[in-house]
Amino acid sequence: MSSQEENDGLGGIIDGKAIAAEIRAEIRNDVSSLSSVIPGLATVLVGERKDSATYVRMKIKACSECGMESIHRALPADATEGDIIAVVRALNEDACVHGILVQLPLPDGINEENVLSEISIEKDVDGFHPLNIGKLAMRGREPLFAPCTPRGCIELLKRSGVEISGKEAVVVGRSNIVGLPVSLLLMHENATVTITHSRTVDLASVVRRADIVVAAVGRTEMVKADWLKPGCVVIDVGMNSKPDSTRKSGYRLVGDVDFEGCRKKASLVTPVPGGVGPMTIAMLLRNCADAAMKCEKSAAQ
Ligand SMILES: *[C@@H]1O[C@H](CO)[C@@H](O)[C@H](O)[C@H]1NC(C)=O
Repeated sequence: MSSQEENDGLGGIIDGKAIAAEIRAEIRNDVSSLSSVIPGLATVLVGERKDSATYVRMKIKACSECGMESIHRALPADATEGDIIAVVRALNEDACVHGILVQLPLPDGINEENVLSEISIEKDVDGFHPLNIGKLAMRGREPLFAPCTPRGCIELLKRSGVEISGKEAVVVGRSNIVGLPVSLLLMHENATVTITHSRTVDLASVVRRADIVVAAVGRTEMVKADWLKPGCVVIDVGMNSKPDSTRKSGYRLVGDVDFEGCRKKASLVTPVPGGVGPMTIAMLLRNCADAAMKCEKSAAQ
């Protein structure tokens, strides 16, 4: 029975939490099969942003759940670019560190590109080193690591049995963090890709062509049901807070997609929260475990 029938004509839901848990179990398994290496993830946090501190804590916790080590470096908000780069360089040299994650955004006045370029490309588990992005953008080149959230979107599609090759994919948003790299990954999977942005004329009719829609604009519930081709698959990367007086916090998290409306039109949709969100950390751990596995292999040779 298809998920549509189970759901009274509503599209099925892609359970990102369950898929991320499955991936984490695979990682735990891979990590425990390593004999001479324990994967180590270094996290670098600059300043006092509460959201950044929370993300870093979640990553450290997820590491230990997968049997991986974490090495944390905290710098004050007034650290200079030179201070941050010195920390990154020391981590590059540290054999216990297989992946380096510099939590973004960095404080005003710090050039993020300068810092990210310093990360050894073999340890760039976030996939934002210009060389990794450059390889991702070229035919026939393989990046060492693909950025985590975009890779998570592709995993959700594949593990939900969605055929990507030859399909029309429309990506809403062209950010360096999601829109652009997810477009490149979809092209790697042989989709026909359209990237839309604030200057796109008649966005709704462009999205209506899509078999696969990836929404990554950061605009609350912007993608509506009547923008969708019936039966398409929708991946919602958005994470916006919407005022909600029924909640104690006064708000709730919603995506870039009108979820309830779009479920009536799409065959599969990711929810927010519980869709793409849990995949980001899972893919970070996957990249870091892969780096350690490569390390053990090359040491054995
Ligand atoms: C994409 O197409 C190329 C060229 O036909 C092929 O070699 C490659 O295996 C395809 N990749 C995927 C993921 O389908």
